[in-house]
Amino acid sequence: MGNYKQIMEMEGVTKVAVLGAGNMGHGIAEVVAIAGFTVVMRDITEELVQKGYEGIVWSLNKLVEKGQISEKKSKETLDRITTVVTIEGAISDADIVIEAIPERMDLKREVYKEVEKYLPDRAVVLSNTSSLSITELSEAIGCPDRFCGLHFFNPPIKMPLIEVISGDHTSEETFEFATQFAKKIGKFPVNVYKDSPGFIVNRILTPLLNEAAWIVYEKRGKIQEIESSVKYGLGLPMGAFELSDQVGIDVAVHVLEYLREKLGEEYGPCPLLVEKIEEGNVGRKVGKGFYDYSKDVIDIQVEMRSETIEILLAACMANEIAKLVEKEVAEVKDIDQAMKLGTGIEKGPAKMADGIGIGKLYQVLLEIYDST
Ligand code: CAA
Repeated sequence: MGNYKQIMEMEGVTKVAVLGAGNMGHGIAEVVAIAGFTVVMRDITEELVQKGYEGIVWSLNKLVEKGQISEKKSKETLDRITTVVTIEGAISDADIVIEAIPERMDLKREVYKEVEKYLPDRAVVLSNTSSLSITELSEAIGCPDRFCGLHFFNPPIKMPLIEVISGDHTSEETFEFATQFAKKIGKFPVNVYKDSPGFIVNRILTPLLNEAAWIVYEKRGKIQEIESSVKYGLGLPMGAFELSDQVGIDVAVHVLEYLREKLGEEYGPCPLLVEKIEEGNVGRKVGKGFYDYSKDVIDIQVEMRSETIEILLAACMANEIAKLVEKEVAEVKDIDQAMKLGTGIEKGPAKMADGIGIGKLYQVLLEIYDST
């Protein structure tokens, strides 16, 4: 660690810069400000940063409306947030920088070059990347030892999980600091010691969303059957298509493309997902995805459940868990915990697999592979 510098003690942290005011960026800024930190949120234009700020106002109002925070707390939270359009303005006085810009390695590299110029010596840089290699990202910045993954789930204000991911160059101190910070903002960190594509939750969840799309695309089942099986059978809080809309179909496809590049063709996104992107209907954040949020009332009927679909999707998750365990990315209990906290699934998918029977799931997987 040639460039190792003493990082901030957690007690001394007051200022957090969030780079990116999009769906995740503004949600992260909100969570951090609610926890009492001063936040500077940055995006590339006034318009984008303003849109993110309005997203925070909307969310805080919802929380007040539902009695989850007081009006006073909402106002104090907003008072702690400022917005800027320059990286220098965002980070030159920051203790922590959280990067939540689009998932393009070239863009991230460009931003990191700028971050490097203005980053205080004591500060750490935490990336909210949903799947890109933390090691590779850290090599684009001059302080790889002070760089770590801090992956939030959508919507950040509601989802309790944060995956804390160590890259090859992350110092132990930075990793510990990021874990403590996750706790400090009221979240449950799960440590991911091995930098592996999709980390834990996206490695399991996005193949599930993809398989759901393939089932419809290949006319093996209807959307209503999948929604019902996922919600009432697998115990996720939403149907698979509803969840794709929530995550952002563009985000899910991006993760799948990355998994395909790093792990193999079987992760390639289903054309049904790609079509949605071509139409511009990428989900809830634009008002339309598989559902039209200006008019549809999502009504998932329990009677539409299909046991075949449930077992198929449970097998899909079990298969990814087996690969994660085999590569020593995480232990089974941590995987189940991460899935419960990151997706709201009632029962950990490994426990679910045990309940269904590994032999039965194995048989289903053999049939899928035989037919492809
Ligand atoms: N802020 C405030 N309120 C919000 C909100 C936000 N950001 N997002 C939604 N809400 C509101 C809704 O508008 C709704 O309000 P109305 O009833 O007035 O319409 C309300 O919250 C819903 O509240 P409920 O009490 O009915 O539901 P809930 O709060 O218990 O659960 C949920 C909502 C947390 C979104 C839940 O459905 C859930 O957990 N869904 C799964 C989400 C998930 O899996 N996320 C992870 C995806 S993977 C990922 O993000 C990683 C990645 O890198 C791709």
